[in-house]
Formats: sequence, structure tokens, C-alpha cells
Amino acid sequence: MAQPITRVGIVGCGLMGSGIAEVCARAGYTVIVREVSREQLAAGLARIDGSLDRAVARGKLAAAERDAARSRIIGATDLSAFADCDLVVEAVAENLELKRRVFAELDAAAPRHALLASNTSSLAIIEMAAATDRPAQVLGLHFMQPVPVMPLLEIVRTFLTSDETLEAAQAFAARLGKTSVVCKDSPGFIVNRLLIPYLLHAIDALEKGIATKEDFDAAIKLGLNHPMGPFTLLDYIGLDTILFIADAVFDETKDARFAAPPLLRRMVSAGYLGRKNGRGFYDYTSQ
Ligand code: 3HC
Repeated sequence: MAQPITRVGIVGCGLMGSGIAEVCARAGYTVIVREVSREQLAAGLARIDGSLDRAVARGKLAAAERDAARSRIIGATDLSAFADCDLVVEAVAENLELKRRVFAELDAAAPRHALLASNTSSLAIIEMAAATDRPAQVLGLHFMQPVPVMPLLEIVRTFLTSDETLEAAQAFAARLGKTSVVCKDSPGFIVNRLLIPYLLHAIDALEKGIATKEDFDAAIKLGLNHPMGPFTLLDYIGLDTILFIADAVFDETKDARFAAPPLLRRMVSAGYLGRKNGRGFYDYTSQ
């Protein structure tokens, strides 16, 4: 039996890390969130504050619950802050060398019993497990955007992840109020294995002039009852993120379904990244 999880460490307080910290704190965990500089930590904590305030304003959370959740979040700039954590979730940039370095450092900083998880959307978990001396305790915990809203957590097990680690991760997901699915450490896991070819196919069809982006979006939204059509979703996730996942899976598999269409690569080169910087397939500069 793995030790029960009470203290959760999060490495990185960007979009994903701050969302993960928020849902953990709202579920009652003590959360230690680490950023590399005081400035980045302050920006990450401000993002959490904004999201908690939004939940209060929408009547999803009582002000007292917000304050209690916020008081459970401790900011840090040093990995030594993870010395008492039972689980540490890595949510740094999607760069394998960086992640391998973080896992090697976490292996030294976190207690021997602690589980180490990556929130990567496309990199192989075994690469990170191999950077530690505890591969049986390493797994993927892939959260969806926006983390506080999406009810799914993908749990990714390598062939070295133990049954105890998997069970602890399933219990953790349940306590967060997420439904978990279990997937082999394989390119794209479940969601991105299906989602990325669909989104790339939409861009290819747009390039071929099959229909306008507005009509593709209307067709999928209204015809299939999806919350967003493909071009709205591409902009929402971020075109650079989509391109990174597509390239990572293509590099590993050479599967043509993950070959990025020229338009996507050119848009990213031109700085059209989606909602995050105000322009992608749609223009958000006036919002
Ligand atoms: N943080 C917290 N709460 C948020 C939020 C955010 N960033 N964005 C929206 N919400 C909440 C709102 O508070 C609202 O709650 P309420 O209706 O109960 O009051 C609810 O979500 C709906 O929000 P809105 O009314 O503002 O907007 P929409 O109805 O358009 O919903 C959406 C927004 C939830 C983002 C919805 O459009 C959606 O589900 N889109 C699809 C998202 C998706 O597919 N995500 C997965 C991407 S794939 C992925 O993450 C994998 C990665 O590896 C690429």
C-alpha cells in the first residue's frame, strides 16, 4: 500500500500548474507550488487567486471555502520545499531535457515514499522515470484545460509503474472529483491520440477550401454537440501546443495522421498562437 497522499507538490505555476494547484487545494490537500523566480511565483499565485475569485463570483464556491483553499497553498522557489510531499506533479514547459532534469532533482528532493508525476501531454513518461531511482513510483497525470472545469484525469502508467502507484493515483483523482482513465505510456495517451489527428485534419480541410472555419465550427458544435468547433478549440489550446504534440508523436511514430499541415507550422512561425496572444484562426484582440 502506498502512503496516503496529504501534501502535494507542483513544479511550475503556469496555466496548467496553477490549475492543478487550485483543484488540489480545493480538494483539501496542502499544496506546495514551486516556480523558478519570485516574479513567476507571484504571477502564478495571482492566476490562482483570479480563478478562485471567478468561482466565487459564479456562485460555485463560498468565500470562506476560497479563503480556506488559498490558505492551503504555499509558494516556493526551491525544490527543497517538497521534502514532506507525498506526491509531486511536474508541470514545467514541454521540453524533455528540462523534464528529465526536474525529475532527477525531484528524486533527490522528495521523500523516498513520494510518487512523482508528469502532466506532459505528449512526452514519454518512461524517459522521466528513467531519470530517477524510483521508476515504479513514476506516472503521468494528464490534466485537461481548463483544469478546474474538465472532469477527466488521464493516468498514464509505464511498464515499470507499480499497481500501488496506480491505485494511489486513482484515489487521488477521485478525491479531486475527477473521473480517471488509465492508459499505457504510449504516444498521445488517449485524448491526444484521437484529438490531434482530428484537429490536423480540420486544418488540412480548411487549406483545401472545403468550407470556411466558421462553418466547420458550426457543423461540429451544432451537429455533434461539442462545446467548441475545431478552430475555436485549436485557438483555445494554443497552436504552438498543438504543433508541439503533433511533432512529438510524429517523431516517435512516423504516423502520417500526426504530420502537421503546412498552414499550422506557418501560423506558429508567424506568431499566430491562438487566444493566448490574441490571434490564431480567429482574432481576439478586441476581447
Ligand atoms: N477556469 C475556471 N472555470 C472556467 C474556466 C477557467 N479557465 N473557463 C470556464 N470556466 C467555467 C465557468 O465558470 C462556467 O461555469 P458555470 O457555467 O458552472 O458557471 C463553465 O466553465 C462554462 O464557462 P463559460 O460559460 O464561460 O464558457 P463556455 O460555456 O463556453 O465553456 C469551456 C467554456 C468549459 C472551456 C467549454 O467551451 C469547453 O468545455 N470547451 C472544450 C474544452 C476542451 O476540449 N478541453 C480539452 C482540451 S484538450 C487538452 O486539454 C489536452 C491537452 O494536452 C491539449
